[in-house]
Amino acid sequence: MTIGNLLKEAIKYLKDNNVEDPSFEAGLLLSHIIGKDQSYIYAHPDYVLNDQSVEKYRSYIKRRGRHEPFSYIIGECGFWDLTFFVDRHVLIPREETELLAQSALWALGKSPAYFNRSIPRLPEKEAYRVLDVGTGSGCLAVSIAKYCDSAFVDALDISGDAIAVARKNSGRYNVENRINFIIADFLNNFHNTEKYDLVVSNPPYIPENDIPFLADSVKKYEPHIALAAGKDGLVFYHALADRSSSLLFDHGMIIVECGFDQGQKVKEIFSERDMETVILKDLAGIERIVAARRQ
Ligand SMILES: C[S@@+](CC[C@H](N)C(=O)[O-])C[C@H]1O[C@@H](n2cnc3c(N)ncnc32)[C@H](O)[C@@H]1O
Repeated sequence: MTIGNLLKEAIKYLKDNNVEDPSFEAGLLLSHIIGKDQSYIYAHPDYVLNDQSVEKYRSYIKRRGRHEPFSYIIGECGFWDLTFFVDRHVLIPREETELLAQSALWALGKSPAYFNRSIPRLPEKEAYRVLDVGTGSGCLAVSIAKYCDSAFVDALDISGDAIAVARKNSGRYNVENRINFIIADFLNNFHNTEKYDLVVSNPPYIPENDIPFLADSVKKYEPHIALAAGKDGLVFYHALADRSSSLLFDHGMIIVECGFDQGQKVKEIFSERDMETVILKDLAGIERIVAARRQ
């Protein structure tokens, strides 16, 4: 079958199943299957695909037609300039979380490109202890370990299946020797014996009652446990602030991501603990990251 005919068939199927931008989506999946960019596909409509690839493409299109996210279908997702394995046990890393990774590296004394925000830095040290609460795919833990040789990271998640994905990603970037994986419930059974210089977290932060209003691709496919956080979505920020003095060395920092309307509330939660706080906005101008330093 030629890719021209196959594309026509796929676009119609996606359109009939109310997938937004069906031409783009059909082209993206096809370019993944044949390992060439989209311009190649449109320039070579007569290219003939073997039966095995046609079958694989049709199965991908069926899944996309059910609104399964592209990243779960291909099993990977770009994050910053890295690529992470993902499956349905982990949240698909989001663009706004890249700002959290960059903020963490800045705090650790690195200077990520294009990051020129005013947040404090940690006192200089030969080795930094970092905790990532709710590591999921490991996108934060692995990026931090990859770009900061002096970071030793504890990556914690309640889900053993998520930890398996994070571990695989640490192997992909050869940082498994500087990441210690912990399966624990941060809210109930994580008892740290050591302190940290830096705690990062993109915790679940969506109020339970808002979950039904999320897009199908999110609420039907991404893990509920990665999204929902009680009545007001703030439970993890309270837990982090309550435990800040046992978690952090003096002058240690907590840097978190929060929901589109939570920035001021999260800032207050940490300020109430006498922590010095800074809010950073994401590219859409949303107050997305709160950095809080222990005095
Ligand atoms: C929003 S996801 C963030 C994943 C990843 N850090 C990222 O930024 O893409 C939140 C993660 O917290 C984990 N989680 C949920 N409840 C938890 C708990 N009580 N203790 C530890 N981890 C938890 C979920 O399994 C999920 O992997």
